[in-house]
Amino acid sequence: MPVVFAKRFCDSTVRGAYFLSITRRIFLRQSGLAAAALAARQNMSHGPAPKFRTQLDVSSLAQFVDPLPIPEIAQPSEHRASPTEPTVKLPYYRMTMRQFESKVHRDLKPTRLWGFGNSSPGPTLETRSRQGLLVEWVNELPNNHFLPIDHSIHGAEVDKPEVRTVIHLHGAKAPPQSDGYPESWYVPGKSAICHYPNGQDAALLWYHDHALGINRLNVFAGLLGLFIVRDEFEDALDLPRGKYEIPLAIYDRIFDLDGQLNYPVSGDAKKPWMPEVFGDAILMNGKLFPYLEVEPRKYRLRVLNAANGRFFHLSLSNSQTLYQIGTDQGLLSAPVPLETVSLAPAERADLIIDFSALRGCSVILKNDTLNIMQFRVGQTSSGETRALPQRLRPVPKIPESAAVKTRTLSLVEIDDLVQRPVTMLLNNVHWSMPVTENPVLDSTEIWSLLNTTDDAHPIHLHLVRFQILDRRSFDVAAYWTTGQVKYMGTAVPPEPGEAGWKDTVRADPGMVTRIITRFEGFTGRYVWHCHILEHEDNEMMRPFDVVPAR
Ligand code: C2O
Ligand code: CU
Ligand code: CU
Repeated sequence: MPVVFAKRFCDSTVRGAYFLSITRRIFLRQSGLAAAALAARQNMSHGPAPKFRTQLDVSSLAQFVDPLPIPEIAQPSEHRASPTEPTVKLPYYRMTMRQFESKVHRDLKPTRLWGFGNSSPGPTLETRSRQGLLVEWVNELPNNHFLPIDHSIHGAEVDKPEVRTVIHLHGAKAPPQSDGYPESWYVPGKSAICHYPNGQDAALLWYHDHALGINRLNVFAGLLGLFIVRDEFEDALDLPRGKYEIPLAIYDRIFDLDGQLNYPVSGDAKKPWMPEVFGDAILMNGKLFPYLEVEPRKYRLRVLNAANGRFFHLSLSNSQTLYQIGTDQGLLSAPVPLETVSLAPAERADLIIDFSALRGCSVILKNDTLNIMQFRVGQTSSGETRALPQRLRPVPKIPESAAVKTRTLSLVEIDDLVQRPVTMLLNNVHWSMPVTENPVLDSTEIWSLLNTTDDAHPIHLHLVRFQILDRRSFDVAAYWTTGQVKYMGTAVPPEPGEAGWKDTVRADPGMVTRIITRFEGFTGRYVWHCHILEHEDNEMMRPFDVVPAR
């Protein structure tokens, strides 16, 4: 089906294909910088799932026929006393998880989804730094799951209810009882009230399900949404705001010919779990190939990779420079010019795009060589385009000497006899084993993540924001035989777009990735895990305890 553009397509430079599928052998030949650059691409070492007979071929759909949806801003229903300061009243929101149908494309039948209210992504929660709020997360989902549960996975045994949810606010500095602990799930008809004090800098956070053993299915079904924290420092920068600030949640799915979600299975009916799931249908705010009408001026795009496992490499079809101004936990110290923005699952990028040279044109946002969405640039702009500030928020480096402890933590994949992964582990221990990471409140630690696998794993810590120190390749085979880390290359500093406050870091294969963080805010039980949800669900997640100083 030919693609019809609503407007003249001004793009002349078509970018070359630069997909890379790295095989294990090629990978092991790389080292140092080259390996780091390659590893930023995804290593689909397990291969894509075979297409099924009734799978929708997304390339057959007309592109840019649906406007980009912008999730509505959630409104509080009342005010209630703060659990920590009873004289203070906090806004109280009710966010209800429901099953509903929604069209992801003009030419597809409505898709059954799970979301909040009637939308997925759910309504965006918006607040200011230190303005606390209460959210009652209400489970009004049906009693049966519509995606394939693997009952052989820990926490999803047959005696567990099929539909269980618990919402986590990713990137929040929240007390442990409000953090959405994976075992604190509740069933349809129940709810949980969470207190988010928001004592943190302006940033784009997001909420999503975190239920043990079925998290990947609940998020795939649609249980996710955005949460924006603002503050005075950011206000003073006078960045594009209001209708010039666009939230973009991007994720991939697989649909059948009826427009229904299909979550792939292994073929073993007793163990349907798949080590990775990649869809060919890439949704932006829940639509396939949407378009957005913009004015010829600067826009701020708040991009979240909400995919289960896909890494995105976003660029504009005219190769125009994008300016990255922020990362997971807020503003960078200065804008970073980029042609391609790479995001692992759960990572965020705060971007400025200037459309002022594109009056009357359209430009396409792409992932590698594939079209994702179209911007249609109008002729006139009502707002003024100010210069982008050259200095943003200072990010003072945490000195390595501040760390009282360094933990060496391995990322491990356990394969069966035919090299199919059966589980993924952190430090060779399972979820249910005793806690081994117990940082002291207000102490600084370095976590050295040794990735012994062939995949890049986005590692996320709850509660904290951290800085990336460096990545360095090491001899994995020697590590397995001797238990010693033998470095093979030089230490590579974080990329400019990662050199800010992070809560998720790409741990590249065959590399030691070092992060440094101060465990601030609360004592209690939290988790850290790989944010490839298929891995997280199958043991690549561990609890940690922040303990009081003695
Ligand atoms: Cu985005 Cu533990 O999660
Ligand atoms: Cu989180
Ligand atoms: Cu992983």
